[in-house]
Amino acid sequence: MLRTHTCGELNLDHTGITVTLSGWIQRSRDLGGMTFIDLRDRYGITQLVFNMETNAVLCESARRLGREFVISVTGTVAERSNKNLKIPTGEIEIIVNRLEVLNSSKIPPFTIEDNTDGGDELRMKYRYLDLRRNPVRDNLLLRHRMAIETRNYMNNVGFIEVETPVLIKSTPEGARDFVVPSRMNEGQFYALPQSPQTFKQLLMVAGFDKYFQIVKCFRDEDLRADRQPEFTQIDCEMSFVTQDDILSTFEGLTKYLFQTVKGVDIEALPRMTFADAMKYYGNDKPDIRFGMTFVEITDLVKGKDFKVFDDASLVAGINAAGCASFTRKQLDALTDFVKRPQLGAGGLIYVRYNEDGTLKSSVDKFYSEEELKKWAEVFGAKPGDLMLILAGDAVKTRKALSELRLEMGNLLGLRNPEVFAPLWVVDFPLLEWDDETQRYYAMHHPFTSPKPEDIPLLDSDPGKVRANAYDLVINGVEIGGGSIRIHNKDLQKKMFTILGFSDEDAQAQFGFLMNAFEYGAPPHGGIAFGFDRMCSLFGGSDSIRDFIAFPKNNAGCDVMIDAPAPIKQEQLDELKLVINIQDQRE
Ligand code: AMO
Repeated sequence: MLRTHTCGELNLDHTGITVTLSGWIQRSRDLGGMTFIDLRDRYGITQLVFNMETNAVLCESARRLGREFVISVTGTVAERSNKNLKIPTGEIEIIVNRLEVLNSSKIPPFTIEDNTDGGDELRMKYRYLDLRRNPVRDNLLLRHRMAIETRNYMNNVGFIEVETPVLIKSTPEGARDFVVPSRMNEGQFYALPQSPQTFKQLLMVAGFDKYFQIVKCFRDEDLRADRQPEFTQIDCEMSFVTQDDILSTFEGLTKYLFQTVKGVDIEALPRMTFADAMKYYGNDKPDIRFGMTFVEITDLVKGKDFKVFDDASLVAGINAAGCASFTRKQLDALTDFVKRPQLGAGGLIYVRYNEDGTLKSSVDKFYSEEELKKWAEVFGAKPGDLMLILAGDAVKTRKALSELRLEMGNLLGLRNPEVFAPLWVVDFPLLEWDDETQRYYAMHHPFTSPKPEDIPLLDSDPGKVRANAYDLVINGVEIGGGSIRIHNKDLQKKMFTILGFSDEDAQAQFGFLMNAFEYGAPPHGGIAFGFDRMCSLFGGSDSIRDFIAFPKNNAGCDVMIDAPAPIKQEQLDELKLVINIQDQRE
C-alpha cells in the first residue's frame, strides 16, 4: 500500500498508530543526530523524523534525498515536542521506520512554497511545479467548488447542461475568431466559438426551455489581467421569460454561490440604468462599494472668464470626504494621474473646504469664496472635504473622472476585496456608433432585442434605441452579461441591415438562425457569466490567470508547451495551406 493516510489529516488522535504516507519532499533539515523532512501532498504537510541513533542506515538514506523527491514512508505517529500550531498536522510527527524512494527530482527552478522566489515567466514555464504550491492549488480548489455549486443550483432550478460544438462558424461577440482549417473541405475554415450564443438559441427553438453549460469560449483579442484568449463561461438560456425572470433566477445563483462558497449573505441586488451608471460613475461597470458619485456643475461655472470651463461640454467632479488635508504633493500626484496619455485630462481643479469653513481652490483667480460655497452645496461637501473637478469633452471627462474616483477609492482603502457589492446594470443602448467605420455596432450582440417601446426609433434614431440587455457587475468588474433575444425573423433581418449586413451576407452567415425562427421560436433570453472572473473575484484577486490551471501569457502564448508553434510542411500540404515555413518562423 502506498499510503494509508494523506499528509493533511493526522493529529494527536492518531498518536501511536502506524501509518504510510506518500508525497513530495518540501524541505529537509539535517540536525546531525536527527533529520527532519516536510512531506507534502495535495492535502497538507506532515513532518517526518529520521533518528541516527535508532536507525542509522535509514537516516543516512534520508539525508541524501533532495527537494521534490517523491517518497513513501511508514512509521509511527508521535506527539511533537516543538509544535507548529499554524498547520493542522503541526502537533504530530512520524517516526519513520521504512523509506522508499518512488522517484527522484532535479533541483526545482524555484522554491515550491507559499512565497516563492520564482518570477512569473519561470513559474509559467514550469506550471506543473507552480501548481504544487498551496496558494495556486487553493485557487483551483475554489474553482472546482464554484463549478460544483453552480451545477447544483442550476440542476435544482430545472436547467439541463447541454454541450454545444467547438468547431463552428463565426459568432460575432465583438472579438476576432480563432480559425481551424478543414482538411476534408479544402480552403474552408471552422471558427472556434466566441460563445455558444446561436446554439443556445437553437436549443430554445428545440424546446429545451432551460439550458446551461460550463463552457470554453475563444476570443482573439488584446489580453489583460481579466481577459484570456480561451476562457470559461457559465452560459445560460431560458424560454418564455421576461427580463425580470432572468434577473431573479441569476440573482439566485449569485447569492447561492456567495453563500455556499464564501459564507457571505448578499442583499437584493440593486438595479441601475446604463444612463445613470454613466452619469454618476462615468462607467458601465460601477464599483458601488463606495460613493463619491459624480456631480455635474457645467451650468454653474460658465461665464467667469475661466477658459477651461467655458470651453468644456462637461464640468464634473467628486467630493472626497475628509480629504481637505491632502498635501500639495498628493494633489500633484492626482493631477499627474489624470494627465496620463490614457486619460488625457488637461488638468485637475481642486477646492479645499477647510475645517474652519473657508474655501480655497486652484481657480481662486476666477471664482470668489461665495461662488465656491455654492459649488460645495451642490457637491454636498462639508468642512474637511476636498472637491476634485475635471472639465472638457463629456466622454473623455467622464472616463478620466471615473478612473480618478477609483484611484481615490484605492487611496482611501474603500475597495476592500472582501466586501462584495453586486448590482445589475440594465437598459443598455442597443447600438454603438463607430466614427472610424461610420456604422453602428451591436453593443451586446446582434441577437439582442430592442425594448418594444423603442422599436419605432429603429428607423428614425437607431442610436437612441435601448435594449433589453443587462450586465451583472461586482466590485467594478463585469462578471456577466445577457439579454432578451429577438425571436422574430423579420426583426432579426432588420437588425442585420442596421448593422450594415447585405441581405446575402446575413443569409449566408445567419440563415440557419433566421430559418429556425420560422419554425416556432419561443420568446427567450439568457445570460453568460465569466467563470474565471467570478473565481478570481471570490478568491480576492484581479488576475484570472491565477485561477486557470494552464493559462496563456499576455502575448497569448503557453510558454510551457511552447504554443502557438509552427507546423510541419506535411501538415500544411495536407491542409492545402500555402505558407512559407520560413515566414512562419519569422
Ligand atoms: P459577453 O461577451 O458579455 O456575453 O461575455 C460574458 C462574460 O464573459 C466574460 N468574458 C471573458 N472572460 C475572460 N476572458 C475573456 N476574453 C472574456 N470575454 C468575456 C465576461 C463577460 O461578462 N453570448 C453572450 C452572453 C449572452 O448574451 O447570453 C456573451 O458571450 O465576464
